[in-house]
Amino acid sequence: MKIQYQLWLILSALFFVLSISIYAVVGSAYQERLQSGYEQIAVTQGLAIMGELTKAYPASPKRSSGYLQKYGEHLQCRLLLLTEEKKVFADSFNELAINTALNLAVLQEERQASRFIRTSFGYLQYTLLPFTKTEGSGYILMIQPAASLEAQLHSFRLWMLQTLLISLLLCFLLSYVVSTWLTQPIRKIIFALKQITPRKRSFTLSYRRRDEIKELIEALKKMVAELNFYDENQKRFLSTSSHELKTPLATMQLILENLPYVRQDEEKFREFTADLLFQITKMKQMVEQLLLMTKIHSIALQRQAISAEEVREHLLQSFQHLAEEKQVPLEIDLEQTTFFADRLLLFQALDNLVANAIRYSPPGKRVKIMLKTVDNYHLFSICDRGIGIAPKDLPHIFSPFYRADDATAWNQEGSGLGLAIAKQIAELHQGELTVDTVWQKGTCFYLRLPRVK
Ligand SMILES: Nc1ncnc2c1ncn2[C@@H]1O[C@H](COP(=O)(O)OP(=O)(O)OP(=O)(O)O)[C@@H](O)[C@H]1O
Ligand SMILES: [Mg+2]
Repeated sequence: MKIQYQLWLILSALFFVLSISIYAVVGSAYQERLQSGYEQIAVTQGLAIMGELTKAYPASPKRSSGYLQKYGEHLQCRLLLLTEEKKVFADSFNELAINTALNLAVLQEERQASRFIRTSFGYLQYTLLPFTKTEGSGYILMIQPAASLEAQLHSFRLWMLQTLLISLLLCFLLSYVVSTWLTQPIRKIIFALKQITPRKRSFTLSYRRRDEIKELIEALKKMVAELNFYDENQKRFLSTSSHELKTPLATMQLILENLPYVRQDEEKFREFTADLLFQITKMKQMVEQLLLMTKIHSIALQRQAISAEEVREHLLQSFQHLAEEKQVPLEIDLEQTTFFADRLLLFQALDNLVANAIRYSPPGKRVKIMLKTVDNYHLFSICDRGIGIAPKDLPHIFSPFYRADDATAWNQEGSGLGLAIAKQIAELHQGELTVDTVWQKGTCFYLRLPRVK
C-alpha cells in the first residue's frame, strides 16, 4: 500500500479516536452538570416542604401519608417517608406497606443525593433527603419523572454526534491533504530517480524544507555523483589500460618483426629478447593487478609470522634496482620485530606504496621506509620528498582508477589501482592506510596493522 494511503489511514484513525474521546468526555461532563442542576432543584423543593412533611413523623403514618399525597400532587411526584433504617413509613401513593424494605441505589447514601434511573415508567429521578427531629430522624425520598432531562441529554448527544460526523469528515479530507502533502517529495524523488538512465545519469531536485527528506535527496545526489565519478574513472581506466596494454603489445610486435633481421648479431638479438621479456613482464603485472583488484574481497587471509628482516630482503630485492635506476636513495629502517600477516598480500601492499614513492620522486630525493611498533599497531611509514598530492586530488587517490593529473604528467605508467589495492589489503587485515602530504614537497603513507598474537 502506498505510504500516502498508509499515512491517510493512520491520521484518520487518530482523528477518529480523538473525536470519540472528546465526545465521551464532553458528553459525560455535560450529563453530570445537567444532573447536578436537577438534583439542586429537587433538593430545594424537598427542603422547602420538609417541615410540613415530617409533622406527623413518627407518630402517625396515616397523617404523614396525607401530607405526602398533598405535596406529591403539588410537585407532581411520588413522596415517601422512610425511617432511620430506610424502611417505608408512609407513601404518597399509599401502595407500599409500612416497614417495606426498598432496593434502591440512592439508599446507599447517608447524605442528600440524587440518582437517575431508567425504569419501565420512563427516566426517573430519585432524591434522598435526610432529616432529624427531636422525636426521631428519617429520610424523605422523592421520585420524579426526569423526561425533560432525558430529552435535553438526547438532543445534546444528537448535536454532538452531528458535529462529530462533520468534524470526522473534515478530518478525513484534511488527513488526505496532509498525507498527500507530506508524501509529495517521495513521489518527486521516485520520479527523478526513474529519469536516470545509463546514458543520462543526473539527479536534480529542488527542495526547500530542512528535514530528513532533504538529507535523503542530498545523499542520493551524492550517490549519483559518486556513481558518475566511478563511471568516469572506469571509462578513463578502460581507455588508459587498453592504451597501456597496447603500448607493450605494439613494442613486442615491432621487436618480433625485426627479430629475424638481427639473428646474426648476437648482442642485438639478446637485447631484443630482453626487451621482449620486459614488455611481457609489464603486461603480466598489469593483468595481475586487475585480477587482484576484482577478487580481493573474496580472498581468505593466510596469516603467518613475518620478520622485519624478511621485509627488508623483499624490499631490497624488489626495489634496489629500480631506485638506483631512478637515482632515488632508498633508506630502510625497520624495528626488529615479527608480525602476523598474509605474506603475499602484505608484500603486494608495501610494493604498491614503495613503487609510488620511487615513481613520484625526482632523482636525488630519498625515499624512507620505516617499521615501528606503536601501541597496538605495527606501523609502516613510506615517506618521499617527491611531487606530493594536490588538495583537490587527495580525497580521490584511494578510489580505483584515479590518477592525479600531476602523476600522469610525471609518469605515463600506472593504472590508478595500486593505492586502492593497498587500502583494501590494509582493511582486510583490520588495519588502515592513511596519507599525509604536502603538494610539491613530499608524501608519507602510513600502513597500520593491528598486533595479532
Ligand atoms: N608517493 C606519492 N606521491 C605523489 N602522488 C602519489 C603518491 N602515491 C600515490 N600518488 C597519487 O595517487 C594516485 C593513485 O596511486 P595508485 O598507486 O593507486 O595509482 P598509480 O600509481 O597511478 O598506478 P598503479 O596502479 O600502477 O599503481 C597516483 O596516480 C598519484 O596521483
Ligand atoms: Mg601506484
